Amino acid sequence: MKIADIEFPDRAVFLAPMEDVTDIAFRLMCKRFGADMVCTEFVSSDALIRDVKRTREKIIVSEGERPVSIQIYGSNPQAMADAAQICEEADPDIIDINFGCPVKRVAGKGAGSGMLKTPDKMLEITGKVVKSVKKPVTVKTRLGWDDDSKIIVRLAEQLQDCGIAALTVHGRTRAQMYTGQADWTLIGEIKNNPRMRIPIIGNGDIDSAQSAKQRFDETGVDAVMIGRASVGRPWIFGEVKHFLETGKEAPNESFLWYLDVLKQQVLQSVERLDERRGILHIRRHLAATPLFKGIPDFKPTRIAMLRANTVAELFEVMDGVGLRNKK
Ligand SMILES: Cc1cc2nc3c(=O)[nH]c(=O)nc-3n(C[C@H](O)[C@H](O)[C@H](O)COP(=O)(O)O)c2cc1C
Repeated sequence: MKIADIEFPDRAVFLAPMEDVTDIAFRLMCKRFGADMVCTEFVSSDALIRDVKRTREKIIVSEGERPVSIQIYGSNPQAMADAAQICEEADPDIIDINFGCPVKRVAGKGAGSGMLKTPDKMLEITGKVVKSVKKPVTVKTRLGWDDDSKIIVRLAEQLQDCGIAALTVHGRTRAQMYTGQADWTLIGEIKNNPRMRIPIIGNGDIDSAQSAKQRFDETGVDAVMIGRASVGRPWIFGEVKHFLETGKEAPNESFLWYLDVLKQQVLQSVERLDERRGILHIRRHLAATPLFKGIPDFKPTRIAMLRANTVAELFEVMDGVGLRNKK
């Protein structure tokens, strides 16, 4: 499978962009476990143009994570084209446009999934961004604004006509936010539309090697993208790749092996930010990880882990869990 000139394995598995999650350390970690492409958090085109320091930092990419895309959002066509040029200087492999974010502060202003209400403007922005840069441009969006306006099948053709190199579709409408179940039916319809030539990437609710394979089998998509299931579980990429390649479940690692991955994430987070902010940042991963599921009477330990304020305190709790569950 190829996106523009970039080669990917068949049935590629990508890390989904996630605000406050897919920072450089997490992207490298997912890459290490086998993610075939990673993406930055979305960045505001307006903030990029205003040269906001924290936004500029988010578009820094490293050699070790290639291929990597930088994702931008916004509602002003010229600002989006200018922001794409700023991103191009940061030298990603791909520039991705976010037309999927459902949160009010974004969609309410007509950006992100708000664009599903104004498809003409979405196409104008896409065409302008494609023309403003040399790097391949991709789009990530949803099925439509709501149940009565699932416009994605025709929209996919129109986006392709704007010159994008690949399309990612999250199988929900904006109205659904993150509720209900992702519906992959229309994703399959896009993939099987004989007029579509660009790679189609499916996204929504993949949480295991089996569900990834099922989606590939059902829809024939070129790649799948995994978001929430990777939080606290970056090793999911290895599990999915192993299953796709061999048809067998990846052998389990020891409890301490998984725990060590999480501890590495803590250290990287603290190194990148500082001790206080790094620990705050990593709590989301510790709260979400499946590693501690099923441990009897875990609640007090969990509370202690999420209350720890220093690395020493946190590791004391984590090492205690490790000692009790060594296997
Ligand atoms: C915390 C969080 C942050 C997200 N941030 C972004 C983002 O910056 N850009 C984007 O395109 N999608 C974003 N998403 C959506 C995900 O990329 C993905 O489309 C969605 O979570 C569905 O996939 P999943 O079921 O595998 O999580 C975010 C989702 C979550 C949960």
